[in-house]
Amino acid sequence: MRRIFSGVQPSGNLHLGNYLGAIRNWARLQSDYDCVYCVVDLHAITMPQDPAELRANTREVAAGLIAAGIDPETNILFNQSQVAEHAQLAWIFNCVARLGWLNRMTQFKEKAGKHRENATVGLYAYPTLMAADILLYKATHVPVGEDQKQHLELARDIAQAFNSMFAIDLFPAPEPLIFGQAARVMSLRDGSRKMSKSEASDFSRINMTDDADAIAAKIRKARTDPEPLPGDEAGLDGRPEAANLIGIHAALADTTVAEVCARFAGQPFSTFKAALTELAVAELGPIGAEMKRLAGDPGHVDGLLHAGAARARALARPILDEVSKAVGFLMP
Ligand code: TYM
Repeated sequence: MRRIFSGVQPSGNLHLGNYLGAIRNWARLQSDYDCVYCVVDLHAITMPQDPAELRANTREVAAGLIAAGIDPETNILFNQSQVAEHAQLAWIFNCVARLGWLNRMTQFKEKAGKHRENATVGLYAYPTLMAADILLYKATHVPVGEDQKQHLELARDIAQAFNSMFAIDLFPAPEPLIFGQAARVMSLRDGSRKMSKSEASDFSRINMTDDADAIAAKIRKARTDPEPLPGDEAGLDGRPEAANLIGIHAALADTTVAEVCARFAGQPFSTFKAALTELAVAELGPIGAEMKRLAGDPGHVDGLLHAGAARARALARPILDEVSKAVGFLMP
């Protein structure tokens, strides 16, 4: 069996990094795998969230996944907090994972910043919940952007440690699926930083709901360097902003960085940016429009998430029962 699990946090706007690094691939994988896709609201609360905004973002992210082509009938699409088994398995994994393993997680260090003593225990234990998400369905493959690779390695370690602790072959070792040149989309303002929902400037990212004017303005203002575009990939060395924009172009056009370089060799950024804007608007325009249409019918989205949660629970329950039995919990 080949089963996919992946998740996205409802902690702000979905952006081009989420789309190219993850969501577009999720939609493409749905014909070849049995897919479970989750809006991870339990992960979102590891950082402070306004409750009304969290609800709105959960609906908006679900709408974004549907608008990007994920079919909630053939796949399972739900929000994490509706399936309590995630939290139950995460607790068990808290009793498997070692402090030393979690201490190595770079995302915690980045998010906790200088005030580590003040970070929540939830933020620290974030990766054990992520391992629970995946392993609760015995998922074999996990499509993610590059930034989640370390968390996935931890999920593999937890799967293995659980199996050996209880002398049972219960969990598979889930494999990351990381695709192509858009696995790490960078900020439009600074080619050394990841494009992210938490970056203060909205001009650092293209949101999936941005209209054509906003997309054009952001690409026009995107940071570049004074040189014309290089004719080959090697010419992108030491030019992070150019490399990022060309990578985005290649991903949107479903081609390679080498081909984009060959096409725009020696041309100024203005010509290239016009072509990139056209591509981005063509791809994101219809998705943003569909997201807005779905936003007008929140009851419909809630209904889909509710139905998805029931289907997710039906898969998760027997697996959590196997886990409980292995651990030695007294069962009804
Ligand atoms: P999150 O919500 O930060 O991001 C969702 C997905 O988008 C990818 N991504 C990017 N890809 C390329 N370039 C970028 N700039 C960029 N920014 C984000 C992420 O890699 C991710 O695939 N911990 C996860 C959510 C999660 C999860 C899981 C994922 C919870 N449980 C189980 C997989 C399996 C996260 O915070 O993603």
